[in-house]
Amino acid sequence: MVATDILKISILGKESIHCGIHLIPYIVSTVLETLPASTYVLVTDTNVASFHLSTFEAEFKEAIQKVSAETKPRFIPFIIPPGETSKSREGKAQIEDFLLLNKCTRDTVMLALGGGVIGDLVGFVAATFMRGVRLCQIPTTLLAMVDSSVGGKTAIDTPHGKNLIGAFWQPEYTFIDAAFLETLPTREFSNGMAEVVKTAAIWSDKEFADLETRSSEIFAAIQTPSSNNSGRTLSTRSEAQQLLLSIVVGSISVKAHIVTIDERETGLRNLVNFGHTIGHAIEAVLTPAILHGECVSIGILYEAEVARQLGILNQVAIGRLARCLKAYNLPISVTDPRIASLPAAKLLTVERLLDIMKVDKKNSGSQKKIVLLSRIGKTYEEKASDVSDQIIAKILSDAVKVIPGVPSKDPVRMATPGSKSISNRALVLAALGKGTCRLKNLLHSDDTQVMMTALLDLKGASFEWEDEGETLVVNGGAGALSVPEQGKEIYLGNAGTAARFLTTVCTLVQKSSSAQPSTTVVTGNARMKQRPIGPLVDALRSNGSQVEYLESQGCLPLSITPAGLKGGKIQLAASVSSQYVSSILLCAPYAAEPVTLELTGGQVISQPYIDMTLAMMKTFGVAVVRQVDPVTKKLLDVYHIPKGTYVNPAEYSIESDASSATYPLAIAAITGTSCTIANIGSSSLQGDARFAKEVLEPMGCQVVQSENETTVKGPPIGQLKALGLIDMEPMTDAFLTASVLAAVAANQPKAGRELQDSDAKNVTRIVGIANQRVKECNRIKAMIDELAKFGIQTKELNDGLEIYGKPISELATGVSVHCYDDHRVAMAFSVLASVVRETVIEEKRCVDKTWPNWWDDLENKIGLKVDGVDLASPSDAEASFKGSPSKSPSASVVIVGMRGSGKTFIGQLAAATLQWPFVDADFYFVEKHKVEVRAFVQQNGWPAFREAETHILRELLERYPTGHILSLGGGIVETAAARETLKSYAKHGQVVHIVREIDEVVRYLGEESSRPAYGEPIADVFRRREPWFAECCNYEFVNHTGVISSSLGDDTPIAKKPTASIRGEIARFFGHITGQYPNLAANVGSDKRSYFLSLTFPDITPALIHVDELAVGVDAIELRVDLLRAPQDKDAYGPYIPPNSHVVTQIAAIRRTTSLPIVFTVRTTSQGGSFPDDAEDEAFSLFDLATRMGVEYIDIEISWSQKRIRDLNSRKGHSLLIASWHDWSGKMAWDSALTKDKYDLAASLGDIVKLVGKANSLEDNLRLHDFVSRVNSVPGSKPIIAINMGVEGQLSRILNTTFSPVTHPLLPNKAAPGQLSFAQIQSALHLIGQLPSQRFFLFGNPITTSMSPTLHNAAFSALNLPYTYEYLETDDVGQIIRAAVVAPDFGGASVTIPFKLDIIPLMDSLSPEAQIIGAVNTIIPITQEDGSRVLHGDNTDWIAIRECIRSRLPTSVLLPEAALVIGAGGTSRAAVFALHKLGSKRIYVYNRTRSKAQILVDAFPQIRIEVIDALGAWPANAPPPSVIVSTVPASATSTDPSASNTLLLSPSLFASDKGGVVLDVAYKPALTPLLSLAASTASAKGWVAVQGLEMLLEQGYVQIERWTGRRCPKAVVSKTVWAKYEDVISKD
Ligand SMILES: NC(=O)c1ccc[n+]([C@@H]2O[C@H](COP(=O)([O-])OP(=O)(O)OC[C@H]3O[C@@H](n4cnc5c(N)ncnc54)[C@H](O)[C@@H]3O)[C@@H](O)[C@H]2O)c1
Repeated sequence: MVATDILKISILGKESIHCGIHLIPYIVSTVLETLPASTYVLVTDTNVASFHLSTFEAEFKEAIQKVSAETKPRFIPFIIPPGETSKSREGKAQIEDFLLLNKCTRDTVMLALGGGVIGDLVGFVAATFMRGVRLCQIPTTLLAMVDSSVGGKTAIDTPHGKNLIGAFWQPEYTFIDAAFLETLPTREFSNGMAEVVKTAAIWSDKEFADLETRSSEIFAAIQTPSSNNSGRTLSTRSEAQQLLLSIVVGSISVKAHIVTIDERETGLRNLVNFGHTIGHAIEAVLTPAILHGECVSIGILYEAEVARQLGILNQVAIGRLARCLKAYNLPISVTDPRIASLPAAKLLTVERLLDIMKVDKKNSGSQKKIVLLSRIGKTYEEKASDVSDQIIAKILSDAVKVIPGVPSKDPVRMATPGSKSISNRALVLAALGKGTCRLKNLLHSDDTQVMMTALLDLKGASFEWEDEGETLVVNGGAGALSVPEQGKEIYLGNAGTAARFLTTVCTLVQKSSSAQPSTTVVTGNARMKQRPIGPLVDALRSNGSQVEYLESQGCLPLSITPAGLKGGKIQLAASVSSQYVSSILLCAPYAAEPVTLELTGGQVISQPYIDMTLAMMKTFGVAVVRQVDPVTKKLLDVYHIPKGTYVNPAEYSIESDASSATYPLAIAAITGTSCTIANIGSSSLQGDARFAKEVLEPMGCQVVQSENETTVKGPPIGQLKALGLIDMEPMTDAFLTASVLAAVAANQPKAGRELQDSDAKNVTRIVGIANQRVKECNRIKAMIDELAKFGIQTKELNDGLEIYGKPISELATGVSVHCYDDHRVAMAFSVLASVVRETVIEEKRCVDKTWPNWWDDLENKIGLKVDGVDLASPSDAEASFKGSPSKSPSASVVIVGMRGSGKTFIGQLAAATLQWPFVDADFYFVEKHKVEVRAFVQQNGWPAFREAETHILRELLERYPTGHILSLGGGIVETAAARETLKSYAKHGQVVHIVREIDEVVRYLGEESSRPAYGEPIADVFRRREPWFAECCNYEFVNHTGVISSSLGDDTPIAKKPTASIRGEIARFFGHITGQYPNLAANVGSDKRSYFLSLTFPDITPALIHVDELAVGVDAIELRVDLLRAPQDKDAYGPYIPPNSHVVTQIAAIRRTTSLPIVFTVRTTSQGGSFPDDAEDEAFSLFDLATRMGVEYIDIEISWSQKRIRDLNSRKGHSLLIASWHDWSGKMAWDSALTKDKYDLAASLGDIVKLVGKANSLEDNLRLHDFVSRVNSVPGSKPIIAINMGVEGQLSRILNTTFSPVTHPLLPNKAAPGQLSFAQIQSALHLIGQLPSQRFFLFGNPITTSMSPTLHNAAFSALNLPYTYEYLETDDVGQIIRAAVVAPDFGGASVTIPFKLDIIPLMDSLSPEAQIIGAVNTIIPITQEDGSRVLHGDNTDWIAIRECIRSRLPTSVLLPEAALVIGAGGTSRAAVFALHKLGSKRIYVYNRTRSKAQILVDAFPQIRIEVIDALGAWPANAPPPSVIVSTVPASATSTDPSASNTLLLSPSLFASDKGGVVLDVAYKPALTPLLSLAASTASAKGWVAVQGLEMLLEQGYVQIERWTGRRCPKAVVSKTVWAKYEDVISKD
């Protein structure tokens, strides 16, 4: 036999685990020799087979040949698809069928070669096949080696959960061959490391420490392939291989030991489930996108936090766990970008997770079992402990609520975590220093963590932990640093201090002689990429260092060339951040020449931090000299730093954090209790240590401060005094704490502190804190916005803010505070939350930055109860499918485009529909500079103007970050700085480019002159700016007036359609992209069926004139982009890529004609379309275009690059992705694991899944139906479109419920074989009993001449619904009506005069609108979950009035300044409500009997209604109405002054010159006196008259929608009704 060194581990009394490297020959011979059998069946997956199966086959073949027995054994391999879906009942059955087919008997030996999936599945088959056959585990993933292959647990998954069916089945052998890890993808390796870290964490401090410190060596071991089977014997084994094997063996030994003591998991064995209770629940939601170990990693951290919360585990251990897991590239919270970016992450609600945990096998009853760690290497109990849901919920929830009250630990005495500033400085100093330094009380936080990781990456020092992590031992590298290994970037998250310090540290890296990577890349998260670093980089560059910006100028990421720091004189602008100064100071001793650092740029910010750096440098042996003015003796901002190497003191104790101390002290102040902070006193190095004396004392607290301690006692609750003026420049970080106190400081300042320039007594004016605008967030703005939610007024100042205090009782309760991912915002508001009820602090984890256990300390050390709050409710997640309006205002919209493109017009309309303020940068400019733009340019020139303009852009973005429309000048893109600002804004906000054709623009500009002329041809300007607009914007709105007519010719029918719909189009576009009213199909994701119409034209514009007819019944329109052909290529055949410009025009044209959302599909040839399979770049350019145009649905094939799809997902805004897979071969089996794999992949990539196969028989549709039921039974599953193509597949199209693609008889050809029309599907559904007949009624009296039956029956017939609509004229709401509404086939009813009030008692519920208006005109029966039916009353009259007006309002009227209602009867109430909803600022009411008008006013206390005494007599200084609604009978009005007893109408009604809309709800005669008057006297001014029949139609459309869940086919219905109406009128 080949010489092989083996290490054997004993389990359950048998040495059955054999470990080594390159073991295949050993495995084969051991199996054949010791497990004689007739058949050896090796099961593996395709991935593993491709690497390792042939070696097994060869070895077996050779060995079997040598077997002397007469009947030689058989070796048969069986290969299955990889992935979790194989671990299913179907997967098990497949293997069993294979074994039976091959006549395997009880003496078979099964070999499971693969990861945990293979091990679990094959193990379970072995356990039950022929009541159990022998098994060998040959794990090939790290996870399987250290976990699943050891212990005998086997299982398969069901849709109800993972591993729910299985058995314990011990293998004869488990062969651990570490060489398999060389082919394992690194993500899979990390996945296994989660289990390795977990085992060490519960069992061995020593092993944990090894894992902590040796991560890079361990990675190197798997990344360096071994050749010639080296490592098989000890003599050929490298150190790296030895390390890897020892890690694996160590972990297995622990598990083997535990299993041996407790095989059946009654106690001790539970320990290996550390991290799994929560981890499994997360995995159930995120699988398959996120791997088991990745979820366990998060579980480990969360479960450790449970232990911390219970006071069992300290923060040091949590910090170590976090760091160690991160070192193996594992996520440690659900906020990790890899997770947060997944659509499924929305489903990680606390309720859902707890629900999943309920079915955990470890639970006994309702208690959850969690393994509690007490320190690294030890658990609290020798089993999992019981933990209540409430505690788990608190850890899982993303937000917290502090319960107000008196701190129960009063008087509080505590220490705060180590100072962040001192910790970071000490780390840099000790790392750069010579010798070993023991750092005590180091802060364990995100910030210090990234700093340590970065210093390790730069190989600048090594770290070890002592005293259970209380002490960090730094072995300094004396300034020797290297560029991190290839491909590794220094990632700093949002850690500002680390970013600043490390930038200079990286310039110290010396050029290396080897040809290793050339530069160090320093990067961070999105916010970090916005924070400034320019002044520091400028200083370093001018000193000769090569530092390049990789993205935005002035921000991270940076690329730094290793060349050492030159030194000599360095000038630095220090007015933004003192960290720049400290950064250079700390590194300066290592420059080639002694450094003289001169600070420029006016006032130096935060001198105390500079002094802190100097003091600490001195402790580490370098004395800096600050220059003194020889004459005045004043200290100058010039520092002389000698050359040298830091000498590490043996020990350095880090002071507690003074900024953190402000929170417990402030809680004492606000709650009238007492708090002592040990470890911070008057001798502190930190500026914030002054907070107690300089802020709290003047506010009325008693403060006692010794050198090393501070005690604060607050005045009785509610007695805090305002501060007047306070300069917080020496303690800027503490201003947030001061601000929340100032919010409740309503008492006048102490004598002498009052403001001289203000009479108000409750003012606190904080100055000297301008730098806080560029911290983790713009903190001044953040405080202003968040305090406003409590009803606190503030005023922003240049370098601070003013806060106007209020008594606590007047503050708003129930506020949800947004923290901007800023720890200080969160902690400051938790102070306010201690006295204001129901305050929710969102993003609780942001405190990890400096005080990770703040919430625990608040509860355990201060004594205020803290509850978890789950912000992500499942209804929100589901709402995203249905297009419900969003609750919170989104980021402001920036509008750019060429001058004359329509920015102002479109922007104002957008602002009007969103009801957001519109800000025009030009007006803002004039207001600020007190000069017109044209004059400014003439005086100062273009460059100065561009600079000022860019400045204004930044100012606007800072000032109006949410809920505004900001319109910019056309030339804003001319400067790089402004482009950078726009680009970075587009990463989270919307920058919309208004696209308009150049010819149109030119024509328009001819008439405009308020802006300076270009001085060059407009076309040139246009060409220059076009790419810039594209680069800066993430959305495009086509102002299509020109585009359509010029590209399609003026005589296309579509070009002739009126542009009145532009208002609707703008409302839809901006409502969608801002998420305020996403234009999605309401039926998708609901229990209703939904359809889209596939448009298969090469050019869809000729068909659009018929779109109403074609799109009857559907919920969206599919644009088959791959079938489009540009006019010049109209006969192109075969694979084709349509030019983007053609696609843009087509989308613009669809939008102009219909409000239906668009499904954007680019189908490739291999998936049944016409787009080339290999044109991925072009396809994604089209998808990009779709997201830019805010197209609502994008169909994306999952065969494209997953990375690109995920990237698209992160940019798609409020649009949804349909992840699709089409298999035309007819071979796709709906019950196979492969199909489930495709489903899982699609579900992980898209919001909606689309799977299309081809049916060969009717049964294929039943299998499809089964598949859909199975995947839909999983809670939170995505909507799925599943159909079979071909005629045989038609049944699947009928049964499919989500977005069934339909064709129409008028279309040239079907998009796919077997496609049905909407009408056909309706008929089929009726035939198979899915769409029973229903009866609808009109209740009222007299009604026999009503148009309603015509209207509704026309709609039912167009929608091919088996419904009828009938009159039911009765004398009262009595027996007859009661009997009608309870009949089983009752579908709904309209209610008219005189029953709109009388019907209300019959209703079980009323819509809010019907309640406000006090009348019901629509009855909707609703079937409840238990099958019972209730009657719901609604009112659609008001919607009809609003729609009649909104769709006709001239564009000159953005929102009506004023509107008039004539009459005060029933319909007037709906009219008032409609006008209010329309946004009319004032509403006038006229009624002949004034007292009746007054009753109307009283009915709407929340709406401003003014009664007028005569028509035309508007209130003083008030605008005339631009909307008029008459609700009185036509016969009661007249234009004839001599007519008696009628209301006289005069042209003065139409005084508004901007035009308007006049609606007469009476529809007999067709032209009422009011409408005739409008037509004759006001139409020239732009007044539009609307007949009452239009209102009847509109309310009918809405009724149809409410009853059937389908859009009403308006064009068909309106045509039928008008025809009938004219017929009736002519006969009258
Ligand atoms: N029974 C237990 O005690 C236990 C414990 C933990 C996990 N599990 C189960 O284990 C499963 C997960 O196991 P896993 O993480 O090993 O996943 P896996 O089996 O799916 O393997 C991961 C991927 O790596 C590929 N692969 C495996 N070995 C490879 C190699 N050497 N080279 C290249 N590619 C390779 C596989 O084909 C697969 O695509 C889950 O089903 C989980 O429930 C069971």
